[in-house]
Parts: sequence; C-alpha cells; structure tokens
Amino acid sequence: MKTILYTILTSLAGMSLILTSCGGKEERLEAKKNRGFRLPEGNAERGEEAFVQLNCHQCHSVEGVNLPEVADKSGVRFSLGGEVRKVKSYGELVTAIIQPQHAISPDYLATIEEAEREESVSPMPEYNETMTVRQMADLVAFLHAHYKLHVPVYDDEFYPHY
Ligand code: HEC
Repeated sequence: MKTILYTILTSLAGMSLILTSCGGKEERLEAKKNRGFRLPEGNAERGEEAFVQLNCHQCHSVEGVNLPEVADKSGVRFSLGGEVRKVKSYGELVTAIIQPQHAISPDYLATIEEAEREESVSPMPEYNETMTVRQMADLVAFLHAHYKLHVPVYDDEFYPHY
C-alpha cells in the first residue's frame, strides 16, 4: 500500500514539474518576482460596478466598455485598456490604483507641456481610505481583461529595401 502511494506521489510531483517547466521564461520570472504575493480572486463584473461607484469614469474611459456619461467633461480624460505594447501586469495595475504618484504614465506625460513634465503630479486621487480590498481586486480583474497585446507587424513598407 505504502509503495503504491509513493509511486502515485512521485509521479504527481514529476508531472507538476513538467507542467511548470513548460511555461515561458518570462512567465516564470514574473511568477518568481511575485512570489508570496497573491490578491484575492477579482471579479471583472463587480470591478466595472466599482469603477462607476468610485467615479473612476469621471476621468477614464475603458476601451470597449460602455460607461455612464459624465456630466462635467471639462476635467482630465485618460483612456485605459486597449492595445498596448506590453500588457500591464497585475502588480502594475495594483500600484497604479493604490499609489498613483508612484509611476506616472508616459502616455499621460506626453499630453502635457514638456517643461512641466519634471514636476508633474498625477491628478488621480488616492482612494486608500475608502476603497475596500475587494473593490481593488475586482477593479484590477476588470481593467486587466481590457488590455490587449499589440504585436507589431513589420513588413517591407516598414523596412524599405535600398
Ligand atoms: C481626477 C481624474 C482621475 C480619477 C477620478 C481616476 N484617475 Fe486613474 N488616472 C488619472 C490620470 C490622469 C492617469 C495618468 C497619470 C498617472 O499615471 O497617474 C491615471 C492613471 C491610472 C492608471 C494607470 C494607467 C497607465 O496606463 O499607467 C490606472 C490603472 C488608473 N488610473 C485607474 C483608476 C481607477 C481604478 C480609478 C478609480 C478608483 C481612477 N483611476 C480614478 C486620472 C484619474
């Protein structure tokens, strides 16, 4: 009985080893960096609700999502999601939400005067006193699903022959 159990356990361990070694190198590096960090599973549908409840849509549109109209459109607008060269990781999205001043998006900086970029602060408010951890996990699940990887296609037109 003991030997059967041993055989089952070792073959299971072997299988999981094979499975984990199949992942891409980048994936494994990412997993290593995030070791010990795990958010509760988010729910994208609830995330969309939280997005509106917390008034994120006052400044943000989200690619491919119909959000309620905002009455005052004079403020900052910055669209989230859509095609990007590098899909935002969970960690990057969490950081952007709980610490807006940490890394100001280069796409946003590109919209303001060059001379003012150095001292610019993010107009995004902090939500840490009011947002629940559940809302944060849901928001990340919602936003993460709306980023698409843009894979550039280089053709002859891009690399002309001389
Ligand atoms: C007053 C306007 C405003 C509100 C309200 C606001 N944001 Fe932002 N947010 C911005 C601006 C402007 C940026 C770009 C500058 C930066 O990176 O901080 C940004 C950046 C972000 C980014 C990073 C995007 C990137 O490409 O790096 C995320 C994610 C984000 N906001 C999510 C949210 C969520 C979720 C809420 C609601 C809880 C919210 N924002 C509320 C203005 C706002």
